[in-house]
Amino acid sequence: MSDPVPSSDSRPAAADRRSPDRVVVRLSVNGTRYEVAVRPSDVLLDTLREGLRLTGTTRGCDMGTCGCCTVHLDGVATLSCLTLTVLAEGKEIRTIEGLTPRGPGLHPVQRAYHERGGSQCGYCTPGFVMTTSALLGKVPNPTDREVRRAVSGNLCRCTGYVKILEAVHEAAAELSDPSKPGGAGSGSANSEPGVD
Ligand code: FES
Ligand code: FES
Repeated sequence: MSDPVPSSDSRPAAADRRSPDRVVVRLSVNGTRYEVAVRPSDVLLDTLREGLRLTGTTRGCDMGTCGCCTVHLDGVATLSCLTLTVLAEGKEIRTIEGLTPRGPGLHPVQRAYHERGGSQCGYCTPGFVMTTSALLGKVPNPTDREVRRAVSGNLCRCTGYVKILEAVHEAAAELSDPSKPGGAGSGSANSEPGVD
């Protein structure tokens, strides 16, 4: 995979023009537009990690069973290891690096995972956080059943799931409380649509 080209430079990279097996796709990732040359068979996880150097999205199983690689496509939690990069063109892609676009500091979902002990080694955490934030964008106050269903595709080998479930409910409470820093009406609450 060749280096990405900022979209302000409309020329494909020279390496792209020399590579007949590649196509140039235009991606919008965390609000930044890129042109990147990929093979038609390349998956979004590889493009993000190796092409755009966005390594916060982790690779677990590489076959759709662990949830580590979850990102948002138009606000919907999506497994990037199963998504062809060419099919992500025209969609708004958000990764864990772009969850707090307004500046430094943790998103309320990240903070809840941290404070509730919902993360230990952290390898699965970006996927859980992206799944959670997509859920809360669609269902601000989910039931325990809805939370369990939403994160059922995310696997964690460290924490058990009690603290993770607590973290999701704590984040939901904060995001829906206008008096909290990340709460509704504060301007930093999750405003994206949610999971399927
Ligand atoms: S790496 Fe994508 S689901 Fe496991
Ligand atoms: S915190 Fe280690 S795998 Fe989930």
